[in-house]
Amino acid sequence: MTAERRFYITTPIYYVNDMPHLGHAYTTVAADALARFMRLDGYRVKFLTGTDEHGQKVAASARSAGISPQEFADRVSLSFREMTGLLAISNDDFIRTTEPRHRRAVEALWRELERRGEIYLGRFAGWYSVRDEAFYGEDELQDGKAPTGAEVEWVEEENYFFRLSRWGERLLAYYEANPEAIGPKSRKNEVVSFIKSGLNDLSISRTGFSWGIPVPGNPRHVVYVWLDALINYLSAIGYPDVENPEFSTYWPADLHLVGKDILRFHAVYWPAFLMAAGLPPPRRVFAHGWWTVEGEKMSKSLGNFIPPERLVAIYGRDAVRYFLLRELPFGSDGDFSRRAVVARLNGDLANDFGNLAQRVLVMIGRNCGGRVPEPGGEGEALLANARGLLPALREHMREEAFHLALEAIWRVVGEANRYVDAAAPWALARTDRRRMESVLYALAETIRRLAIVVQPFVPEAAERLLGQLAVAPAARSFAALEESPLIPGTALPEPEGIFPRFVEKTLSCEAGGAR
Ligand code: MSP
Repeated sequence: MTAERRFYITTPIYYVNDMPHLGHAYTTVAADALARFMRLDGYRVKFLTGTDEHGQKVAASARSAGISPQEFADRVSLSFREMTGLLAISNDDFIRTTEPRHRRAVEALWRELERRGEIYLGRFAGWYSVRDEAFYGEDELQDGKAPTGAEVEWVEEENYFFRLSRWGERLLAYYEANPEAIGPKSRKNEVVSFIKSGLNDLSISRTGFSWGIPVPGNPRHVVYVWLDALINYLSAIGYPDVENPEFSTYWPADLHLVGKDILRFHAVYWPAFLMAAGLPPPRRVFAHGWWTVEGEKMSKSLGNFIPPERLVAIYGRDAVRYFLLRELPFGSDGDFSRRAVVARLNGDLANDFGNLAQRVLVMIGRNCGGRVPEPGGEGEALLANARGLLPALREHMREEAFHLALEAIWRVVGEANRYVDAAAPWALARTDRRRMESVLYALAETIRRLAIVVQPFVPEAAERLLGQLAVAPAARSFAALEESPLIPGTALPEPEGIFPRFVEKTLSCEAGGAR
């Protein structure tokens, strides 16, 4: 059973040449929502994030900062670690490519590839982009630049090569047999046509600079930063010790979440390296889209990089998480604008969900002596919809369709709000108390279910709401949805708002939850 019920999910490891920004926060928040979802659903989860610290780009940034690459990497890596705290990220590990455990894994994988005849020494002559840390052929350049728009430089040096050209057919066969291995589907087609166009052997070492892991047996070379970086997914679970329980439990990884710009590294090079070393490729790689900010591409020169701490300071942690996952289909590009965030925050969070919880809990406080009321068969249609949520959410989460998962939850929020208006429990308080209790029970029980399933997305607000419903921490997993309904007579604490409005904060407090 444990072999099946486990889930290994990763984010890319972030280059330390730059401070964390919205783009990094995005992948990390998405991975976190999935990791939390799977844990609540009873899986043993390993959720990995970290930093990518070697290579020419990082060495150059350190040089311009006037400090050693290691000191520079330590500093920036710490900011990425802090980002996890800021955004309530529940990662189980944080890997750095400058750690000994990683170096050991890289050396072992290199030797394994060498032993299997997958590496040879040759000469590279072509273009290299330091920004992309990628090699380009003459035919790939557009107006003298990389297809990504990055500057390139001519490189001619002795390099080790990986026999990628041998692996095209096997990669195609793998994707044919495992159509779910790349998402979204449109991206899979891109990868497949890239492979079909023919794969060249890949340069996997560099000379001329030293900020990297020395090639075993030939320390004049450092391991190409992408081969180095990809191996993090193995080093964090104890490779090369493949007999250890971590490794045998978690490899192959269930999901690498990446941005669309780095899909090729994860869906072509990575599975080829793994197969060549006799290891199974990851079960799935999903490529998400890119954010612009107020309609503009994020760039250093425009100065519109948004650091996560600023976002969290302005909008709050849960609101940022909610916005990132709700606003766009994961996989599409989109725009981050102040107006859009405030609209979601005040609309979906404060008006719809926050107000529902506040209205119902205040009514229970006033009319039921602050105790969970007696059920009595009211609100069956609403409860049935709330019960139907989990299977629908599992489907959406399996496809990384966070926006659909949230839409489904908010559909029930909307129904619950309409039910409050239609059943008018405040009027029943004067005419039919038993029915009022029954209506309020159905609502409170619906809110309990909503609070449980919304935990992966807005963990802090969900925690507060579950506290207000006196749901014990042990009764907050998905199994508890059916096992632990609210018990009539349970005393509830004083209700308080869970999603403050962004503007006019003071007003929303005074309003006491009235719509
Ligand atoms: N170090 C490599 C990854 C190695 S993984 C073995 C790398 N690092 S990165 O820091 O440049 O980018 C990390 C991730 O951030 C990528 O998935 C990238 O798509 C994502 N984003 C960077 N800017 C982004 C946006 N503007 N919008 C969304 N995601 C973006 O690549």
